[in-house]
Amino acid sequence: MKVLIVKDYEQMSRIAADIIADIVRRNPSAVLGLATGSTPVGMYKLLSQFVEEKKASFKKVRTVNLDEYVGLGAEHEQSFAHFMRTHLFDSVDVAPNNTHIPNGLADDPQSECDRYHRLLQQLPQDVQVLGLGSNGHIGFNEPDTPFDSTTHTVRLAESTVRDNARFFASREEVPQTAITMGISEIMNARKIIVLASGKIKAQAVRAMVEGEVTPACPASVLQNHADCTVIVDEDAASLLTGNYR
Ligand code: F6R
Repeated sequence: MKVLIVKDYEQMSRIAADIIADIVRRNPSAVLGLATGSTPVGMYKLLSQFVEEKKASFKKVRTVNLDEYVGLGAEHEQSFAHFMRTHLFDSVDVAPNNTHIPNGLADDPQSECDRYHRLLQQLPQDVQVLGLGSNGHIGFNEPDTPFDSTTHTVRLAESTVRDNARFFASREEVPQTAITMGISEIMNARKIIVLASGKIKAQAVRAMVEGEVTPACPASVLQNHADCTVIVDEDAASLLTGNYR
């Protein structure tokens, strides 16, 4: 793993956006694996700016998102499909047909998982962006998810429901289940960028970077990836003991 410790959220977002823009400039039809949540918002804002300033184009880019809540349709304000349109897709020149995200309203979630798995086989990510759960999850692969998992439905951990309640009017409204890309499909990405910011992530960052590689901390599997860059701010890096400067 390459670990970059940066000053703050802005710097983290800037470095991540530069890496993604560079990948898209080299390969205009790159497949970008994308995440939702608070962490990548700054990066998406910068990417939107780059496109507006004609420093990058997403015209031929394909995207695959990590996850979606079961029971929320793309029009629901808390759905990840809505999040992606608001924070990125509506402000860049990506073709809507080239953006992919699991369907949270599928009648049969298992066949939706199978469909998404086949899609990922056709569209292996040139780069996968990941946020990090405070419990070490990546995507919605909660602790003890097998490393060989593919797209599946998951019952969210208590701590995840609690962490995500901030996006909903009340905790009761947070969906309990989601469809997530599996760990093996995340690991299949050519390159992985993990972003983490704030003290709330410090324990998980330490377990991911310096802990044992174990399903108890799903993000620790990234130590086995050939090209994984972790970009963390000072607060998120505060429990690391190695020398990464
Ligand atoms: C989002 C996702 C999650 C988040 C993680 C961190 O698509 O898959 O793993 O990346 O829960 O969320 P934030 O960035 O809100 O702290």
